[in-house]
Amino acid sequence: MKFDKTVSMLMTLLSILMILITAFYVERLITQNNVSSVYSSKLSLTGAKLSDKLYANVSKVSSQPTDHKSVITQYEIEVVNGSGTDLTNWSLLMQVPEGSNVVDVWNVDSSHDGYGITFTPLHYNITIKSGESVEFGMSIEAQANYAPTSMTLSGFRMAPAGRTFAGKLILSLFVVWIVFFVSYAVVKYNSVTFLKKQKTDVKIILQSMNTFISFIDAKDPYTRGHSRRVAMYAAEIAKRMHLTDVEIQNVYYAGLLHDAGKISVPDAVLNKPGKLTQEERELVQNHTVAGGNMLKQLSSLKGVRETALYHHERFDGKGYPEGLKGNEIPLYARIVGVADSYDAMSSNRVYRRHLSKDEIIEQIQSGAGTQFDPDIATYMVDMINDGYVNVVKMETAEVDGAEEKFHLSEGDIPGLYMGL
Ligand SMILES: [Fe+2]
Repeated sequence: MKFDKTVSMLMTLLSILMILITAFYVERLITQNNVSSVYSSKLSLTGAKLSDKLYANVSKVSSQPTDHKSVITQYEIEVVNGSGTDLTNWSLLMQVPEGSNVVDVWNVDSSHDGYGITFTPLHYNITIKSGESVEFGMSIEAQANYAPTSMTLSGFRMAPAGRTFAGKLILSLFVVWIVFFVSYAVVKYNSVTFLKKQKTDVKIILQSMNTFISFIDAKDPYTRGHSRRVAMYAAEIAKRMHLTDVEIQNVYYAGLLHDAGKISVPDAVLNKPGKLTQEERELVQNHTVAGGNMLKQLSSLKGVRETALYHHERFDGKGYPEGLKGNEIPLYARIVGVADSYDAMSSNRVYRRHLSKDEIIEQIQSGAGTQFDPDIATYMVDMINDGYVNVVKMETAEVDGAEEKFHLSEGDIPGLYMGL
C-alpha cells in the first residue's frame, strides 16, 4: 500500500515534470522561428530589391550636425509587398556602417546593437498584406554623412512555428503528456472512488457477519470469539501461502462463517458437558450441511459456502459430511479446518481444558497428511512457533461481561491490503 502510494506520487511528479519540460520547449518553439530564406540587398539611393515582388523604398528625411562633431541622419523606409499573396512571419534587418550608431527607430518594435537593427515585432511576425507596405524609420548618428548605399537591408522569411520535424515531435509529445496526465488523473480519481465504495461494502459485510455471529455466540457462549480467531488464523495461513488479497479476504469471511450451521443445533446438545449419544453427534455434525445450505445465498463471497460445508472433512477422506479426500476438499475448507482444530485445541471447552503448546504442535504434526493438508499444517505450526497465534489471542481477548467489546472491523483481516 505504501509502495503503491509512493509509485503514484512519483508518477504524478514525473508527469508534471515532463509536461513542464515539454511546455518549455513548446514555448521556445513558438517564440523562436527558423529562418527558411534570406533576401538581402544593398540599399540604393532609392531603395532595395529584396525579391522579385518585394522591395524597399528609402528616403532620407533630414541630416543634422550635433555638438559632438557627428551627424544624425533620419531615414524613412517603406517595404512594399508586390506579390499576390500576404507575407507572414517576416523579419527585417537593417545593417548600418561600422562606427555609426542607431539612435532612434519608430513605427515598429526593434532591437539594435549599434551595428544592425532588427525589427522584431511580435516575435518575427511581420505581416505585409498583398499590395500593401510597412513603413518604419530610424535615425543614425555617425561621424560622416553616410550614403544609403553603405547600408544593407535584409528580409528573413521565417519557417512557421512547429512545421519542422523537431517542432512536430515536441508538439506531439506535449499533447501525449497532457492526454496521459489527464487520463491518469481520471483513472486515479475513479480508483479512489472505487476504494471508498469498496471500504463501505466491506464494512457492511463485516457488520452483517458480526450480527450473525453474535447469534451463534449466544447459543454457544463457551466458544465465543472462536469464529473470529479461526478467521484470523486462516487469513494468516492464506497470506503465508501467497494467495491474492481477494482470496485472503474471502478466506477470512469463510473462517468467520464456517460454523454458521451451529445455529441449527439445539442448545442442549451444543452445550452438553458429557459424552454425546450417536443421535446427538449426528445433530452436531449436521452443522456442516446446515451451514452449507444457509450460505448458498452468499454466492458472491467465493468459497464461504464450501468452507462451512467441508471444514470437517479430513485429508485422508475419513471426515464428514461427504468423506472428500486430499485436494478434493476445497482449499479454503482445508485452511479453515486446520485453523479450526488449532483453536479447538488451544481453547477451554465445556468438557476439557486446552492443550499445551507442545501437545498442540505434536497433534498437528501427527495429523499432517491424515487429518490435515500437510502443507497447511506446516504453516500452522510455524505460526505457533513464531508467536503469531498469541498476537491473535491478545487482539481478540475479551473483557468479562463486556459483550459490546466483541466486534469485527476491517482491521481484523490480516491480509486486507486493498487501500482500506
Ligand atoms: Fe465446525
